Amino acid sequence: MICWVMLRSLSKCLRTNPVGVQRNMSQSSLAGKVAIVTASTDGIGLAAAQALGKRGAHVVVSSRKQTNVDKAVALLQGQNIQVTGTTCNVGEGKEREKLVQMTLEKCGGIDILVSNAAVNPFFGNIMDSTEDVWDKILSVNVKSSFLMTKLVVPHMEKRGGGNVVFVSSVAGYQPMQALGPYSVSKTALLGLTRALAPDLAQSNIRVNCVAPGVIKTRFSSALWQNEDIMDEFKKQLSIKRIGEPEEIGGVIAFLCSDEASYITGETITVTGGINCRL
Ligand SMILES: NC(=O)c1ccc[n+]([C@@H]2O[C@H](COP(=O)([O-])OP(=O)(O)OC[C@H]3O[C@@H](n4cnc5c(N)ncnc54)[C@H](OP(=O)(O)O)[C@@H]3O)[C@@H](O)[C@H]2O)c1
Repeated sequence: MICWVMLRSLSKCLRTNPVGVQRNMSQSSLAGKVAIVTASTDGIGLAAAQALGKRGAHVVVSSRKQTNVDKAVALLQGQNIQVTGTTCNVGEGKEREKLVQMTLEKCGGIDILVSNAAVNPFFGNIMDSTEDVWDKILSVNVKSSFLMTKLVVPHMEKRGGGNVVFVSSVAGYQPMQALGPYSVSKTALLGLTRALAPDLAQSNIRVNCVAPGVIKTRFSSALWQNEDIMDEFKKQLSIKRIGEPEEIGGVIAFLCSDEASYITGETITVTGGINCRL
């Protein structure tokens, strides 16, 4: 009798589980989607392109230097990811337009924008930062994120909806020492996420943001290559290591998937447990 009951529940499990798996796969699948990821030939942008591409999206990678674009395209093609590449300095209006136009011509539409590019030309006391520094940081990190969004939204609307993800930083919650203007630009992205979400929800476009902690990339190498800084920094972490770009890429892909269909206007902090609040 006990045996019969066990067999019955085993066969029920075998019958129901494949359906559960299939449902999960289709919810996380991005097959047929076209994703623009800015600044995506290295670091977090490249990891985001990989994560989106592995879920079936056609990814459009770009950065300022053709050699970096070529390397990233070859790497992604080697992983059987559908990929198109072009140069684009997101700080230049004409280049943003070229990126969008090329994506439409080669891929037929746009479903996802990951706005990842940022610069930081200034380290030091915030009171020593100049107008040029502020213009550069706000132009690339904030203004271009909004203007890229404005360019892609009409095309997402034609496809019935889409997803925008901004890449902010833990510095957006707690300004980092010597990185005042950069930190302020990252706080602005938290605001931009919340400002856009209600408007774009009407077009079935979700707008979210990730705020990474310290992630092992070239951008942050001055931090993680300095043992004294890292020892001090690790005291703030629950998970006592710095993050890997893939650990951000996966969260970005999740936010763009149907599994996140009821999430908009949010920022997910991915920091190894740093206490973040504004
Ligand atoms: N790494 C961290 O610890 C960390 C923490 C929090 C937030 N973030 C944020 O994550 C994002 C990516 O940083 P990352 O650490 O991944 O940097 P990264 O590894 O140094 O990669 C930077 C990428 O951006 C491209 N790039 C630089 N300026 C550009 C521009 N004006 N237009 C287009 N592409 C440009 C670079 O290629 P080219 O040189 O060919 O242009 C490269 O592909 C940034 O928004 C950063 O603020 C990083």
